[in-house]
Amino acid sequence: MLLIYGANGFTGQLIVEECVRRGLRPIVAGRNAEAVRALAAHHQLEARVAPLSRRLSPDLPRLTPPDPLPPPPSDELRAILAGVHVVLHCAGPFFRTSGPMVQACLEVGAHYLDITGEITVFEACRHQHTAARQRGVVILPGVGFDVVPTDCLAARLAAQLPGASLLELAFAGGGGFSRGTLKTMLLGGRDGAIRQDGRIVSVPRAWRTQRIPFRDRPRTAITIPWGDVSTAQWSTKIPNVHTYLALPPATRRLLPLMSLLQPLLALPAVRRFAERQIDARVSGPSADVRASARMQLWGRVTHPDGRIVEDTATVPEGYRFTALAAVECARRMLATPPAAGYHTPSTAFGARLLDELTHIP
Ligand SMILES: NC(=O)c1ccc[n+]([C@@H]2O[C@H](COP(=O)([O-])OP(=O)(O)OC[C@H]3O[C@@H](n4cnc5c(N)ncnc54)[C@H](OP(=O)(O)O)[C@@H]3O)[C@@H](O)[C@H]2O)c1
Repeated sequence: MLLIYGANGFTGQLIVEECVRRGLRPIVAGRNAEAVRALAAHHQLEARVAPLSRRLSPDLPRLTPPDPLPPPPSDELRAILAGVHVVLHCAGPFFRTSGPMVQACLEVGAHYLDITGEITVFEACRHQHTAARQRGVVILPGVGFDVVPTDCLAARLAAQLPGASLLELAFAGGGGFSRGTLKTMLLGGRDGAIRQDGRIVSVPRAWRTQRIPFRDRPRTAITIPWGDVSTAQWSTKIPNVHTYLALPPATRRLLPLMSLLQPLLALPAVRRFAERQIDARVSGPSADVRASARMQLWGRVTHPDGRIVEDTATVPEGYRFTALAAVECARRMLATPPAAGYHTPSTAFGARLLDELTHIP
């Protein structure tokens, strides 16, 4: 049995629709009884309602180490996981929500999937590897656009150049952001992060800029703290990881302004105001955009002896891809889960997952 928590959110609803299209009948769940029951009634699915925890932290995330004592799950959350084999957690920002759900999954023995892209959340999940193995549970965060395609590309490249010391990944395209993504970017936003000699380190925003030869055309991209800074080392063992996003010149010029605004978000009143503005003004990419936009991906591995290997890929728009990838990972987790413990998408299902996703009817 599959349970989708946060099912009434923008991305949760897309994932529920994709489940139904593929013949899966998930339980839909969340904290908002009215919204969850309306969604369940629309698709004729079972609804379950529970808060995640009685003590969720409103604070900003810490880069490393992760919170050693995440908020405990509520009794109601444990109760709604009865009989559930796989949880697909879609309620974000995940630095607030993932800790209690991971804990609840470990307690009841359900496999945990989520659609996070947050480095802090990947790191916290990785710290649960031993506990997950002991309890026979799989913890697989990042089954959305962040990080399925880049993680599979990274694994593919690493296999072609054993001993590589630097992995660079980049993406471009998209048709806008949902409320949840903007909140996650705003509140989780630190200057930047890379992996250097095996450790995650902070770097300034847009620390490096380079011209990237994407499959359709070259674009200028800047470093951003994408989830692969955490996950790629688990997948490839490469000790240096830099992740890039291609941005138009006008957007790149706004970055210094964002750096000036960032310290204000440490103030709870400013955070609440920003979140209310996002709730009131943002609706997410339209169905037309989701159907037509494409995402470009590029990766390169460099060996200390100077050899390089590059690869590119093109996938559907990010929210559409997230629904496709998350549902396929949930389906595989129900049918043939990988060995218990922490996984990235490519260690769970192989780097071929990226190609296999493009063949889903
Ligand atoms: N990996 C990827 O590529 C990818 C793709 C898409 C989205 N995402 C991430 O997924 C998350 C959700 O995005 P979205 O666009 O679906 O956002 P959204 O429309 O704002 O939905 C958020 C969902 O999370 C629930 N939620 C939020 N805080 C909660 C809490 N403290 N306790 C319980 N439920 C809570 C909301 O419940 P209420 O309705 O009750 O508020 C809602 O169901 C974001 O973090 C986003 O960055 C990642």
